[in-house]
Amino acid sequence: MDKKALEALLKDMSLEEKVMQLVQISGAEYEADAEITGVERGQVKDNVKRLAGSTLGIWGSKSLRRIQEQYMSEHPHHIPLMFMLDVIHGHKTVLPCPLGQGATFDPDAVRKGAELQAREAAADGVHATFSPMADLCRDARWGRIMESTGEDKLLNSRMAAAMVEGYQGKDLKDNAHVAACVKHFAAYGAAEGGRDYNNTELSEHTLREYYLRAYGEAIKKKPAMVMTSFNSINGIPATGNRILMRKILREEFGFQGVLISDWAAVGEMINHGYAEDQRDAALKGMLAGVDIDMCSGCYSAHLEGLVNAGIVPIKMLNEAVLRVLNMKNDLGLFEDPFRGLDADVTPVITEESRRLAREMVAASIVLLENKGKTLPLGKEKIAFVGPYADTKKLQSSWAFSGDDENTVSVWEAASEVYEAENIKSAAGCTMLDQDAVTAREIRHIDNWQDINNCLLAEAISVAEWADTVVLCLGEDMAQSGEATSKVSLRLPAVQMQLLHEIKKTGKKIVTLVFTGRPLELMEVRELSDALMVCWLPGTEGGHGILDVLTGKVSPSGRLTASFPYTVGQEPLHYDMYPTGRPKPENGPGPYTSRYLDCENGALYPFGYGLSYTSFSYGDARLSAQTMSPYETITASVTVKNTGDRKGSATVQLYIRDITGSRVRPIRELADFKKISLEPGAVEEVSFVINEEMLRFWTAEEKWESEPGKFQVWICDNSRDGKPLEFQLS
Ligand code: NOJ
Repeated sequence: MDKKALEALLKDMSLEEKVMQLVQISGAEYEADAEITGVERGQVKDNVKRLAGSTLGIWGSKSLRRIQEQYMSEHPHHIPLMFMLDVIHGHKTVLPCPLGQGATFDPDAVRKGAELQAREAAADGVHATFSPMADLCRDARWGRIMESTGEDKLLNSRMAAAMVEGYQGKDLKDNAHVAACVKHFAAYGAAEGGRDYNNTELSEHTLREYYLRAYGEAIKKKPAMVMTSFNSINGIPATGNRILMRKILREEFGFQGVLISDWAAVGEMINHGYAEDQRDAALKGMLAGVDIDMCSGCYSAHLEGLVNAGIVPIKMLNEAVLRVLNMKNDLGLFEDPFRGLDADVTPVITEESRRLAREMVAASIVLLENKGKTLPLGKEKIAFVGPYADTKKLQSSWAFSGDDENTVSVWEAASEVYEAENIKSAAGCTMLDQDAVTAREIRHIDNWQDINNCLLAEAISVAEWADTVVLCLGEDMAQSGEATSKVSLRLPAVQMQLLHEIKKTGKKIVTLVFTGRPLELMEVRELSDALMVCWLPGTEGGHGILDVLTGKVSPSGRLTASFPYTVGQEPLHYDMYPTGRPKPENGPGPYTSRYLDCENGALYPFGYGLSYTSFSYGDARLSAQTMSPYETITASVTVKNTGDRKGSATVQLYIRDITGSRVRPIRELADFKKISLEPGAVEEVSFVINEEMLRFWTAEEKWESEPGKFQVWICDNSRDGKPLEFQLS
């Protein structure tokens, strides 16, 4: 449809029809087995169901075709219904959770992953996904860190931008792509105390310098949608925040697409104490520029009245409706309302999609310890022990459209690689402690203690038989994701007990940690000979993990978020400020900024990860010691694979602005490159530093660089390396 035809359509629509384009209702209104991803409010009225412009949480060509047919036949203008779904890290083929995808430090792989997700979702009738989540996360207590790519603004920016490109492709009409939705605008990851939905209190400087960056970069790729966040920012709920939405998002970032609220977030402004009632909430949402009200019912109940009373200008309403119609048009829905709804075509997991997922799993694994070169495994007898050893539940709470039965467990993959007489497996313990609280339930198991006694006894006998125990531990997948904040970052006590008991057998222990958040791993590290973080790896989890365990692939993943010594350090991130009393590097540092009982930094810092081979970094070089704003400097280093295996190094460039009108962090990631080297091979890695990379939100409240001294590191992680210096004139 061309622009004129769309405008003519808008003109012809009744006020009720217009309002309903701005209403999203749960898929449960159409399908009994819809995925409910928020608090249910009970059934909506008939007219809402007949006219609501979009729905979420349902998929599958057969039922969506039926729903679309019925809906369009009843709609006065036959405007198609839009189907949205949380395809966060996989639809049928489930990839590693986003925190793990970030660990690949490979935006190209992440873009291809998003293409795959889009292809599968589009073939199941889905028009739009609520991804990427570009929230910066510095707090491992916040369970939604799993859905992000971590604590660094540059890494997050590149990953979120890559995801938008992958989901949307070049043309949304092409039926292999879906509309992307950058979320949660804004600063949802800064929830106080790491408690989900909680308030955030951020200076404008911190907001702009850190929290807004990745959204901004992703929005440059023109996502069809942006979603508001649940939290309030400096006292104003994001969903009613005019400065955030109208000024920053629309004017400054130039976002022209559809702004959708999060689930019930318009109505939740009442709970926040920001709106008096539903009508007031609808008004505040509208004035802030929220186009679609997801599932709160405020727009459907009150927007018409607000427009009739002249409180919401009709022009404002028309603009919002036009944005929704435009999105439907961009998706080609007016030409083909049944796109992706061919009942004979269902997305299937292909060899190619498995290959991509498997490679991504292997690339996302972070090797934290490898004492005495315990890994890769050799020809020894191996016991795979632990609640993650033989489970297909390797997805996350945000991969509900993928089926567990397609997942390859660690044990299944091990059985493909090793002779049956050389491997054994045992669960060792339950996943959780008795009566553990997860996102939606308290998990109670009758006879929990007896069950664990049996499991432990079996595991010990299996361990005694083996030379090496691969201990598969971790958080349950229902302990990360939405509404899963925790004040403990330790593995369940029952799993720690298993680790201690296995240690007593004297066998080599390779601990694999499955997790959607950074954990406290100090004790685990001490008890293990090798330690690897496997995240929540998805469909090809077992295969990717075995590729690394056997040495077919050398691990190359890097941490996307700091793993703390203790939860007391949270929020924790490598790009801290220096303070007036910096703690000396190698001393106790009385009267300096330190903890009496813990290091300041992480146990395993951002960017950290080992390989089976070793790399040496030569002396870094700068092409010049001074630079004007119109020049560039090249920073280079020679990297050599000094080990006896092929491997990938993630070469990281960090910069520090030594003095500024605002204090600058002790270092910040400025660029990175992942290179693959054969044993003995040498590669020169160069980064171009330009003035734009040196800009920050100055005391003048402008994005500018300031003349002065800068330090540069080219190194292997956020803690290593020796700095060089240059001067910006
Ligand atoms: C709530 C979550 O915060 C958001 O990320 C998700 O996309 C929506 N519900 C829809 O399921």
